[in-house]
Order: sequence, then structure tokens, then C-alpha cells
Amino acid sequence: MVSKPLHGRDVISIRDLSKYEVISIFEEANGLERYARSKTDLLRGKMMAFMFFEPSTRTKLSFEAAMKRLGGDVIGFEEPSTTSMAKGESLIDTARVIENYADIIVVRHPYEGAAKAIAEAVHVPVINAGSGALSHPTQALIDMYSIWREKGRIDGLTVLFYGDLKYSRSVRSLINGLLNFKVNFVFVSPEPLKLKEEVKEELGLLGIEYAEHTMLTEEAVRAADVIYVTRIQRERFADPMEYEKVRGSYRLTSRHLQNAKENLIVLHPLPRVDEVDVELDKTPYAKYFKQVFYGLLVRMALLKMILT
Ligand code: NCD
Repeated sequence: MVSKPLHGRDVISIRDLSKYEVISIFEEANGLERYARSKTDLLRGKMMAFMFFEPSTRTKLSFEAAMKRLGGDVIGFEEPSTTSMAKGESLIDTARVIENYADIIVVRHPYEGAAKAIAEAVHVPVINAGSGALSHPTQALIDMYSIWREKGRIDGLTVLFYGDLKYSRSVRSLINGLLNFKVNFVFVSPEPLKLKEEVKEELGLLGIEYAEHTMLTEEAVRAADVIYVTRIQRERFADPMEYEKVRGSYRLTSRHLQNAKENLIVLHPLPRVDEVDVELDKTPYAKYFKQVFYGLLVRMALLKMILT
């Protein structure tokens, strides 16, 4: 029997996936590249529904594009005020209605736990497309796939995280995803945006060494194979004054990369605000727009593997 590691499964946390499953997704994504600019009927007759409670451009559009390239159909909402939730319907009731129309539900929500609660209430698979400040498993898969494609491996690399490491769910999920591999972690952020103690404690318990800095040093850049930059997650600050204190406090420019490894790659989940100088876009280091393309392939792979 052919093994189908993801068939019928929910994707709620990156930690639910084994290294074998992650690599299977990467291989599937490679195989689907030939359909990324055309159309196939692999998912003909299948319907994806999205329920989005937070702003999104690429996550929503790439899931939609992925489903349509594979021949499936898409329904959903991104403005809950236009749904019956505005009349007081609960999140769970809404999901239980939507499962009657769709074969898979993709959820983005500001509360951690929303996707999981929906997955427990419905009978169709659920994909978490970002919940709260804690998890964004499909973004982590995209980030790891980008590294794997660009560098040919993940094991043995030095991955430098730069930016808002406190509130970024993509940082949090990528760290969790990389625990399946053997990487050197370097964390660089202004003091108020440092990685939370609980994450560092966990790395410590797992015996994983990491380095932490408040400034991007030349030495840290020179050792890096990947620099993963994130914007300040303004919407997650409880106090707007706290945001004002850190606004514009870091920015990656080509000057920082003068002594970088020749094949360093710079990734960013996007959207970018001002934390990566647009000048850098022209350099061979910049892979963040290619990462968007890889995102389409990964989401095609996930939908195909879960639905067939
Ligand atoms: C990320 C998110 O929503 O967490 N965006 C995305 O899905 N590409 C990162 C971010 O918003 O900064």
C-alpha cells in the first residue's frame, strides 16, 4: 500500500508533523511545481472553505490559488462582520455550518486555540493559517522548504532570526519546525522584542544551544547561512506606547551583509514594513519573493496530500 502520511489530517501545529512527513511535503511540493502556472484536475470536485478573522494577503490568496491550480473550488469569508456571527452565532456553530459545504477548512484567527477548537468540532480536516502570536504551521513549512530548496539541506545550517521574536508567530513556528533538524540558532532582536523565556527554557531542556544578541554583529552575520527577518507585530502590543518605543528600531541593509557568506539567503514571511531595506531586493541574498512562490507549492502539496 502507498503510504499517505497526511491524508484526512488536520494541520494545527508544526509540532504535529514528523521529519518524515515534512520531507514528504517538500517532495510533493517539488512535484507540483509543473502545475504552478497552469491547471490540473487533481482536486476536481473538492471544495476548500476559508474563515479569516485577521488581515491576510498572501496566505489567503496562495491557498486560493493553490486550490484552483489543482482544479478545486473555493468559498469563504475574510470579513466576519458580513456573516451570521454578526448576529451572535458562535465560531463553532459557524464552522459546523461550513463543514457541510466544504471538504477542508482553512482558518486564521487572532486567538491561539481557535483552529484547534474548530478542528475538534468538525469532521473535515482543518488547516491553521495563523492563530494568535503562537503558531503559523504552514508558514513554517514554507520557510523550511525555502531553506531546503535554496541550500539543498537544513541540517548543519546556522539560522539567524532578526526582528520581533517576541510576538511573531512565524518565528515561533519556524523554531518549532527546525527542532526536527540540527541547526544552530542565533536570535537577534532589540531588548523589548526578545524571544520569550519559555521558548529559551524549552530549547535548554532539549539541550539545544543558541546565541542571543541585541544588535546584529558582523561576526553573527558572517556565520549565518540564513537570516530570517520579521516585522514588528504591531497588532499584538497591548499598549500602543510600547510599540512606539521599538518602532523602527532595527533594519537590515546591504551594509550589514558586506562580510556575509556568498550563499547567504535572507528570508521574510512578509509583509515588510521597513525592516529590510528595499536596496537589498536587488542582491542575490534576497529570497523573500521567491519564498512567496515556494509558499504556493507548499500549500498545493498540503491540500493534495490531505484531500487525496
Ligand atoms: C505572517 C503572519 O500572518 O503571521 N504573515 C504571513 O502569513 N505571511 C507574518 C506577519 O504578519 O508579519
